[in-house]
Amino acid sequence: MNNSKHILVTGGAGYIGSHTVVELINQGYVPVIADDFRNSEERIISGIEKITEVSPQTHRIDVTDLGALEYLFQKYSFIGVIHFAAYKAVGESVASPIKYYENNLLSLINCIKLCEKYGVKNVVFSSSCTVYGEPDQAVVDEQSALKPANSPYGATKQMSELILQDVVRSKADLKVLSLRYFNPIGAHPSGEIGELPIGAPSNLVPYITQTAIGKLAELTVFGDDYDTEDGSCVRDFIHVMDLANAHLKGLEWLSNQEGQLFDVVNLGTGKGTSVLEIIHTFEKVNDISLNWKFGKRRDGDVSQIYADASKAKQQLNWVAQKSLEDSMRDAWIWEQKLANAK
Ligand code: UD1
Repeated sequence: MNNSKHILVTGGAGYIGSHTVVELINQGYVPVIADDFRNSEERIISGIEKITEVSPQTHRIDVTDLGALEYLFQKYSFIGVIHFAAYKAVGESVASPIKYYENNLLSLINCIKLCEKYGVKNVVFSSSCTVYGEPDQAVVDEQSALKPANSPYGATKQMSELILQDVVRSKADLKVLSLRYFNPIGAHPSGEIGELPIGAPSNLVPYITQTAIGKLAELTVFGDDYDTEDGSCVRDFIHVMDLANAHLKGLEWLSNQEGQLFDVVNLGTGKGTSVLEIIHTFEKVNDISLNWKFGKRRDGDVSQIYADASKAKQQLNWVAQKSLEDSMRDAWIWEQKLANAK
């Protein structure tokens, strides 16, 4: 390892990427953002600047463009790469599978090719609990079987992990940690950065905040007859700042390992929360009455899934710190800041 503290963050202007950039800066790293802003806006970089008082080095490039990405590997001496750049909308991936396979796989392949060529050994990969497909049990640990993916998006995450595993097996001098996120929610508590859904959001929390602010008329809770305590689905909702922090822990852990390795770690709170609990917490914390109704089940939804997060605790010394109340308050602060900026 050299003295450089440069970390390449592909997709660093995105939702989880931008929060991770803040944490990297706070802990003395020098993040270098590679992002073409197809799914973000300049305001996210300004937000990072406001929070950290540092202007992150930002390169407007498409990570599927090998030449453009190689320029960054020539310019900087990276000690690690955190690879976020990817599409993530489940429904869109069903409608446009090639778009997903091309973008998500090519960007990963480019990163790995260049890590090998330039001797960058530490790679953190942005994966998802979607790799478990439809699990046999609600709680999943890293040993749980990877069932068939229920969307092309999910398939790209499974394939990416396979690619990484094969590259490491081929004796590449590479250490890879794949972080399987459960349901990221919330925003930086300052409200300077957060998620920027394009068009109508498909995820629950942006849907809630946009309904509360009046951009959307009402929220539909998909299904009231699941085999759960209150009939709505159960997920493991985790504050995005906790997730961001886990990337730092992951990077630290990787840097202390010798030889090549591929490993996976779940990132969740370890606790299941129902959709109705989320709504009620949002209403209570922010003193808002949300316009919602029950509707039909959504295709492809599993009844309940949450993390066994014990490996993250043992291996990375990481435990989620923030509460559901924190997430609901921060998501709402962000939505209001967005509205005021327009
Ligand atoms: C999906 C992906 C996950 C990905 C995440 C964020 C799968 C199986 N899961 O999670 O990998 O990380 O998106 O992109 O591919 N809901 C409503 N009304 C709404 C919206 C959602 O009731 O308007 C419910 C859903 O039915 C679900 C829960 O809220 O039970 C969470 O949904 P969502 O935020 O879309 O995330 P997941 O589908 O769990």
